[in-house]
Amino acid sequence: MSLSLLSVASEVFPLIKTGGLADVAGALPLALAEHGIDVRTLMPGYPDVMARIGTGETLCRFVNLFGGPAAVIGTRLGDLDLLVLDAPHLYDRSGGPYVTAGGFDHPDNWARFAALSQAGAAVAQGAIPGYRPDIVQAHDWQAALTPVYLAVSGRPRPKTVVTIHNLAFQGSYPASIFGSLGLPAAAWSLEGVEYYGNVGYLKGGLHAADLVTTVSPTYAEEILTPGGGMGLDGLLRGRGERLVGIVNGIDTGVWDPRNDPVIASPYGARSLKGRLRNKRAIEQEFGLARGDGPILAVVSRLTWQKGLDLVAEACDAIVARGARLVVVGSGEPMIEGQFLAAHARHPDRIGVRIGYDETLSHRVQAGADAILIPSRFEPCGLTQLYGLRYGCIPVVAKVGGLADTVIDANHAAVTAGVATGVIFGPPTGPALIDGVDRVLDLYADPKGWRSMQVSAMNADVSWRASARIYADLFRDLTRE
Ligand code: ADP
Ligand code: GLC
Repeated sequence: MSLSLLSVASEVFPLIKTGGLADVAGALPLALAEHGIDVRTLMPGYPDVMARIGTGETLCRFVNLFGGPAAVIGTRLGDLDLLVLDAPHLYDRSGGPYVTAGGFDHPDNWARFAALSQAGAAVAQGAIPGYRPDIVQAHDWQAALTPVYLAVSGRPRPKTVVTIHNLAFQGSYPASIFGSLGLPAAAWSLEGVEYYGNVGYLKGGLHAADLVTTVSPTYAEEILTPGGGMGLDGLLRGRGERLVGIVNGIDTGVWDPRNDPVIASPYGARSLKGRLRNKRAIEQEFGLARGDGPILAVVSRLTWQKGLDLVAEACDAIVARGARLVVVGSGEPMIEGQFLAAHARHPDRIGVRIGYDETLSHRVQAGADAILIPSRFEPCGLTQLYGLRYGCIPVVAKVGGLADTVIDANHAAVTAGVATGVIFGPPTGPALIDGVDRVLDLYADPKGWRSMQVSAMNADVSWRASARIYADLFRDLTRE
């Protein structure tokens, strides 16, 4: 039986991306299609998105959506079936999806994403003639009011799912906006959106949804604890079996070292020699001294969550051990500054690119030997999956999805030939250095290293297994 699912997300690769959410929102629909689930994806019409889609078909209109007229435009991009919310008063402006060009939150984000959710609820209840999804999947706080609007509507509605990609971002706003959300007074309650005297978008969605999912089994456990729950652990514990952790996959078509147009030289698990040319290419690109020693890499938001202050502080120790480091990322000015200073100290050993560069991220995964991910918490993480796929050995902290997707090179795993990376813990400076020491020891044995690269590249990081779990859950939900 085929099912129809409306996915509501604030970023979708390849149209707009600030992080892993976009990759998931762009790839999961294609994987679900293989299980007979037709996905349409509703997203905001930011300028880049409107420019990319050109003219589509107007499927429905809103006379006044949070202060101005809006329309849902239907279009296809590759295999993605997109519903773009064209609302110039909310989305047609400079800056990123969430922040201004100056780096501050758009002051009306509360309205921009309540509008996305309200439009999602309207579409879910038939605003587009002939379209009635069986399920709505709302991603993160930006879409989390969708199930709330549906729950209070008092009309027949599809089943609802909220997927948590990162509990650190909750969409919490002053109580004064409540009156503008178009919710009934009763929604200002413990069962509704009230959250410690504020309006909590994610909190409301987690309460209202028929099912809550998150992006790895370990993170699903971590968020039940006071340390990992970021204030929502009590609510989440209350959801019991209605909270499920499913590990992310990646789009193995977009990320395929045998067939990646932006890397210097394609290679596969059986032709790893070709990988060396990619290493030479990034040495050149980052102005590093040529060498046979390992190149470690960082491709990430440079934030506290990602633990990259720890790598920044370890730069001298990394160089002292004969390794080199390349960094691609942007984020907290202090961490950016630390990396730039490390580059100034070791210009031919440490290369730093501050900014966001999708193409370079592929080249780094193809050319570096190992990727460092010392996250303090990590719901799933995708860069370690790209690392596995590209034979760029992940060196990860033992948290969340990192722990679920990497097989540590301990004695048993190495002997059995199944290791795919190095797991260290807890995410502290000394533990990171320990992880670096272990990966350097492994690198020093070329045969063992190659065998680990092959195991990594053969690991199934596709959506295949996880899409089946989602599909089964969604089917069960519609049968309730
Ligand atoms: P998060 O979503 O928490 O940032 P993930 O590991 O799930 O972490 O996803 C991050 C995504 O963003 C990956 O696709 C990664 O390659 C990409 N990425 C992060 N920083 C950069 C950057 N500076 N340039 C290019 N891609 C980046
Ligand atoms: C979030 C998380 C990251 C996860 C991504 C996609 O950004 O921080 O761990 O991989 O969402 O689910």
